[in-house]
Amino acid sequence: MVTDNTILGLDIGTSKICAVAGAKQPDGSVRIIAFKEQRSEGVRAGNIINIESVISIISNIRKEIELEAACEIKQIVTGVSGSHIEGVMSQGVVGIKSKDQEIHSEDIYRSMEVARAFELPLDREILHTLVQDFCIDGRSGIKDPIDMIGHRLETKVMIVTGSVTASQNIDKCIKRSGLMTKRRVLQQLADSEALLSEDEKEMGTLLINIGAGMTNIIGYIHGAPVFVGGIDIGGSQVTSDLAFVLNQPLQLVEEMKITYGACFGPSIDAHENVILPQVGGLPSIKMPRKELCKIIEPRMAEIFIMLRTMLDKRGLLQSFGGIALTGGGAMMPGATDLAAEIFERPTRRATFKKVQGFDVNQFDLRYSTAIGLVLYDIRRSSNNEAFVHAGNKTSTGGKRRFGSKVKHMFDTLF
Ligand SMILES: Nc1ncnc2c1ncn2[C@@H]1O[C@H](COP(=O)(O)OP(=O)(O)OP(=O)(O)O)[C@@H](O)[C@H]1O
Ligand SMILES: [Mg+2]
Repeated sequence: MVTDNTILGLDIGTSKICAVAGAKQPDGSVRIIAFKEQRSEGVRAGNIINIESVISIISNIRKEIELEAACEIKQIVTGVSGSHIEGVMSQGVVGIKSKDQEIHSEDIYRSMEVARAFELPLDREILHTLVQDFCIDGRSGIKDPIDMIGHRLETKVMIVTGSVTASQNIDKCIKRSGLMTKRRVLQQLADSEALLSEDEKEMGTLLINIGAGMTNIIGYIHGAPVFVGGIDIGGSQVTSDLAFVLNQPLQLVEEMKITYGACFGPSIDAHENVILPQVGGLPSIKMPRKELCKIIEPRMAEIFIMLRTMLDKRGLLQSFGGIALTGGGAMMPGATDLAAEIFERPTRRATFKKVQGFDVNQFDLRYSTAIGLVLYDIRRSSNNEAFVHAGNKTSTGGKRRFGSKVKHMFDTLF
């Protein structure tokens, strides 16, 4: 049975627009109720450039999803990303006012407000305030300061900002498709929700999503996000390179790339040949797969080198224990080997986290953002419910209950 709490995760990508409807079941498991995708039109490097095309696609997807899920979808959680996204480090310091010097949730909120109080250009908005670390009276590395004693609380955060107009365009498309935006979530956070375990975040992991029009990145150290970024290059540039060099139409070389493409020369057999079909009834051409790889590899390497330069500038690369790749570009054979060589870090293809009730084999890595949006919203909504529920009990339930209430609140900050 489909419940009222069905949420739609909408990923407006450069190559496809897809939506996943999911709901939390009474036993705590997550049920994916429906999934639909359509080829994208009117999106370039994650940014909407033709509103009418996008509205028409979202409206179609909405109708199909509602038919399949047999319910009316009202609320939607959507991803935001692109090279306009920036993560800025900030911190807020407050004095503890309570008589017993115990730190309460209000103190954390106050310190976060101080951290967020900086001047933002009119065309930018705050998307997330991600807690890095708490510091009490100069002692850092505290994950949960609630109920601890101190005089001075310092909260270190990463504030993720993005372009106002990019978000407004997304909201406009959603509204005109008859839906309502419940939440806008940084795509990198959605990917992490679907793919990274707490242990991986703790040991230091870099998650790279190679899409069609952009490559997004998020880095975790000691469990907290320390870096977000992105570049406007992805798999469609690889396809364009192939079309240019082989002098063939985009659609044909896209299929060829997916069937035979590879981006790490040393792992390809020198004698392996591929068949390149031609248009206009011309006979197919046989070419060594190594030659195909020679066209693809430089562009994939360029993507990784640009990301490495960004990380090197901040001196962050050495802190990551490993790298995980997602997005359609991660499915390119050799992508993990090439990334491992360029970043000099162990690299793997990401895998979906185990979530009760969710069959991870249903989807490939192109859908990590859409799945992650649903999982992110379900977790956040559950935490908020638990927060309110625990809060109601607090007035009668005493201090221990208060402690557990705030634990839930903490989670909501990330
Ligand atoms: N098996 C494969 N091998 C190589 N490349 C692939 C494979 N499958 C998909 N791709 C490429 O991945 C890209 C699409 O990935 P994805 O669906 O993650 O992008 P998107 O979300 O639409 O775009 P973006 O995130 O950039 O807005 C395309 O360029 C496609 O050619
Ligand atoms: Mg994408």
